Amino acid sequence: MSAPTTSLTPRDLLARWEEQQSAYVAHRENRFEVMLDVLRLHSPAEPTVLDLACGPGSIADRVLGRLPGSRVVATDYDPVLARLAETVLGEYGERATVIDADLAESGWSRPFAEWRFDAVLTSTALHWLSPRQLLGVYTELATILPPGAVLLNADHLRFGPEHSTLAEVSARHDELMRQAAFAAGAPTWDAWWTLAGRRPDLGERIAERRRRFADRPPQPLASLAFHQAALRTAGFTEVGTVWQYLDDYVVFARR
Ligand SMILES: C[S@@+](CC[C@H](N)C(=O)[O-])C[C@H]1O[C@@H](n2cnc3c(N)ncnc32)[C@H](O)[C@@H]1O
Repeated sequence: MSAPTTSLTPRDLLARWEEQQSAYVAHRENRFEVMLDVLRLHSPAEPTVLDLACGPGSIADRVLGRLPGSRVVATDYDPVLARLAETVLGEYGERATVIDADLAESGWSRPFAEWRFDAVLTSTALHWLSPRQLLGVYTELATILPPGAVLLNADHLRFGPEHSTLAEVSARHDELMRQAAFAAGAPTWDAWWTLAGRRPDLGERIAERRRRFADRPPQPLASLAFHQAALRTAGFTEVGTVWQYLDDYVVFARR
C-alpha cells in the first residue's frame, strides 16, 4: 500500500512547524519580536540579513514580511527544510536566497563572503554544534561581517549544576508547556516530520537528510558563559543578552 499523500502546501507546513516549535520553546514569538526590534532600531531601514540554520524559514519569513526592502540569505544543511524555505521564501522573489551549508564544516562561510550583512539572526539551532564547532562558526562570522553588524542568537542555554533549582524549574516549565501545546493540537517533532514525509516531492530529500544527519549525536550543551566567551574570542564586542525567560535567551553581539 502506498503512503497517504497530503494536501499540505509548503506554507501550511511552515505554519505547522511554527506550532510545533512553539511547543518546545517558551514564548518563541517574543524571542522573534525582540530580534526584529533590535534589527529595526539598529540596522539600516532595508537591511541585509543572514538567517543561520533557517529551518523552513521562520526568521526569514518574518523579516521579509515585516521589513519591506529587506533582503535575506537563509541557510541550512537539512535538504528538506531548505527546500521548504526556498519554496515559501520564493514568494518574496529576489529578496530571498537560500544556500545549502554545513555549519559544522570549517570554511562553511565562503559562499556568504560576497554579501554585506547588517545582521545575523539564528534561533533554536546552534545547540546542534559542539563547543568547538560553535567557536568556529562565531569566528567565521566575525570574518565576514562588517563593523557594526549584529548577531542575535535565540536558543535554550541550559543551567549548569550550580543552578540546579533553576534547571529543575525550567525543565518543569518546558514539560508543562509541551503538554498544553500538544493537547491544543500542536504537532510533535515526529508528527511534523510525518506530515512533511507525505509530500512526494520531498521523498529523495528525506533520504538525503537521513544520510547527512546519520552520524550527528546530540552535543554537550554550551552555557551562556561559553557563548559569550566564544563571541568575544571570535572578535565580537558588546556581548550580552537582550532577552531571557528561564533558560531561554537571545544573545546579542556586535561586530
Ligand atoms: C529546531 S530547527 C530551528 C529552525 C529555525 N531557525 C526555527 O527557529 O524554527 C534547527 C535547525 O538547525 C539546522 N542545523 C543543524 N545542524 C546544522 C548544521 N551543521 N549546519 C546547518 N544547519 C544545521 C537544522 O537543519 C534545523 O533546520
